[in-house]
Amino acid sequence: MSIGANLAEDTGSSTSSEKRRFEPPADLAAEANVTSAAYDRAAQDRLGFWAEQAERLTWAEPFTEVLDWTDAPFAKWYVGGRLNAAYNCVDRHVEAGRGDQVAFHFVGEPGDTRDITYADLKDEVSRAANALLDLGVRTGDMVAIYLPMIPEAVVSMLACARIGATHTVVFGGFSAEALASRIEDCRAKVVITADGGYRRGAPSALKPTVDDAIGKLGGNSPVDHVLTVRRTGEYVSFDDATDVWWHDVVDGASPEHTPEAFDAEHPLYVMYSSGTTGKPKGILHTTGGYLVGAAYTHHAVFDLKPGSAEEKGDVYWCTADIGWVTGHSYIVYGPLANGVTQVLYEGTPDSPHQGRWWEIVERYGVTLLYTAPTAIRTFMKWGREIPDRYDLSSLRLLGSVGEPINPEAYLWYRNVIGGDRCPVVDTWWQTETGQMMISPLPGVTAGKPGSAMQALPGIGVDVVDENGDPVPNGSSGYLVLTEPWPAMLRTLWGDKDRFVETYWARFEKQGYYFAGDGAKKDEDGDIWILGRVDDVMNVSGHRLSTSEIESALVSHPRVAEAAVVGAADETTGQAVFAYVILRSGAEEGASAGDALVHELRTHVGKEIGAIAKPRKITIVPELPKTRSGKIMRRLLRDVAENRAVGDTTTLSDPAIMAQIAGDDRAVK
Ligand code: PRX
Repeated sequence: MSIGANLAEDTGSSTSSEKRRFEPPADLAAEANVTSAAYDRAAQDRLGFWAEQAERLTWAEPFTEVLDWTDAPFAKWYVGGRLNAAYNCVDRHVEAGRGDQVAFHFVGEPGDTRDITYADLKDEVSRAANALLDLGVRTGDMVAIYLPMIPEAVVSMLACARIGATHTVVFGGFSAEALASRIEDCRAKVVITADGGYRRGAPSALKPTVDDAIGKLGGNSPVDHVLTVRRTGEYVSFDDATDVWWHDVVDGASPEHTPEAFDAEHPLYVMYSSGTTGKPKGILHTTGGYLVGAAYTHHAVFDLKPGSAEEKGDVYWCTADIGWVTGHSYIVYGPLANGVTQVLYEGTPDSPHQGRWWEIVERYGVTLLYTAPTAIRTFMKWGREIPDRYDLSSLRLLGSVGEPINPEAYLWYRNVIGGDRCPVVDTWWQTETGQMMISPLPGVTAGKPGSAMQALPGIGVDVVDENGDPVPNGSSGYLVLTEPWPAMLRTLWGDKDRFVETYWARFEKQGYYFAGDGAKKDEDGDIWILGRVDDVMNVSGHRLSTSEIESALVSHPRVAEAAVVGAADETTGQAVFAYVILRSGAEEGASAGDALVHELRTHVGKEIGAIAKPRKITIVPELPKTRSGKIMRRLLRDVAENRAVGDTTTLSDPAIMAQIAGDDRAVK
């Protein structure tokens, strides 16, 4: 793997020309949760700092050692400590007299709303925990969750955590095939789903996909029960041997359940994420360190002030889906551990109208908003007159995550949404890191549009060259994490070797974690993320693997070979472009027809999910390969991005690029 094309170009068109800095607002800085003293404290005693942060949680047994790194890269944090994640997220707030505080203002897409207090949440999580126990789920068992963005998704996760079952949430946009492979890989005993959810004004079914997934696994299915929430009321088929309704088994269950404390390293969840090979990786997060990392960063980066509306506590809204890590760390575990009031919204930003988000901000007085650059760029396209119609004056801080935020989008977000008074925090992290790693601190950092700035207190980050040596300021290289951190992934589910190989082998000598991203240190040493340097794409902040999509294409009977690249896209960051060679002869070429291209797109949707469907599929006679047979995706990216094709001298047949570029134009 070489640093490659990604590092040659900056991702934002005006990255280097935008020189403005935005100082923290004086009132925010004066009252900030975290000041520059945190950097000093962590620099002087990193583990001491993380021991102090662990005091945010309630431990049933104190830990005896902060970090055991003797078996690196397999970490143990808060050794000997015992705790219950659900107790920390729910019960303790009720015990502290905060039971009446709203935990979630739920907004369904059709307009239904529900306010759920911490006391309600405690009852509901306890009922669901009792129901799971009745269904035979035990500590250490795995539960798959395939739900829309409804309160039951949060309740299900916490119910699992409460009884020590490990959850794996599968994003509702994934196909039956993708769901089946995840259920099989982690041997899920129960699947929690819904008849469907609402998307773009219409019900979108989920239960049939679960039935399909279990059907695909046949006799090999580990699933004993499917627990289904009724959301849309649409017809679902029911098998009396395995199927149970949520309202039958949860609503009637006892709201009393005593949480048991588990070891700090007890597996909390597995989240599958795309890697550089076809098979998604099961990223394992455990309990104590994960919760400390999520809670501390949520407190520090959002300057979070918990409390009820009367106490003028923050109203926080993270727009991510619970099916991704952002939803895990910054809707469920971090915010609830911190006792915040938040908004949970089921639907899409343009349903039923393009002002939906701003209507919600106004209605609930949202103070902290956390979203992705793709969404911001979409709102920019729709025009500022839409948010301008709403009162957004409650907002005091804006967050960004998932992909590089270009300066134009940063400035628009700050100005149009944030009224030029809200700091923007661009937070870099990954499914693997579990917690934010690089971000401004809103009361400390003078932000630069487009830069994630500096490692958070207690986090070790550097940008290094091929040999693992730090690059000087003003240069680009590989982004690495130089020290273990509390919420780090512990391994890949069932695949220790792949864990070591993927993240730790590249800079083994230095003992660094290799993030897979390129980055630049500017003249001040601030960090600018440049995007992935491996075969992972980022489409609308969703992580997709080129080889996973290639495998899906090749599994179609008409396809002989396929190459997939992520090409730059103004709104989605990257878009999937596929180049395929057909089995029945290249002579069909570009005229193979829209019907086949349509069929192949649908096929990818079926194999992985709609998010993975290529924006464009080009049928080509041959792919650009080196003499050793390696596909040169860099050249395909040149074609997809309408650039002059780069150096072709290492190709076994340099003439092929002219044909591909020609065909490409023909089918545009
Ligand atoms: O390439 C980086 C990009 O998203 C990748 C991680 O994707 P995922 O595990 O799906 O987690 C997304 C949500 C945390 C990273 O390797 N990425 C994430 N945040 C940023 C980012 N790129 C630039 N700037 C960010 N703030």
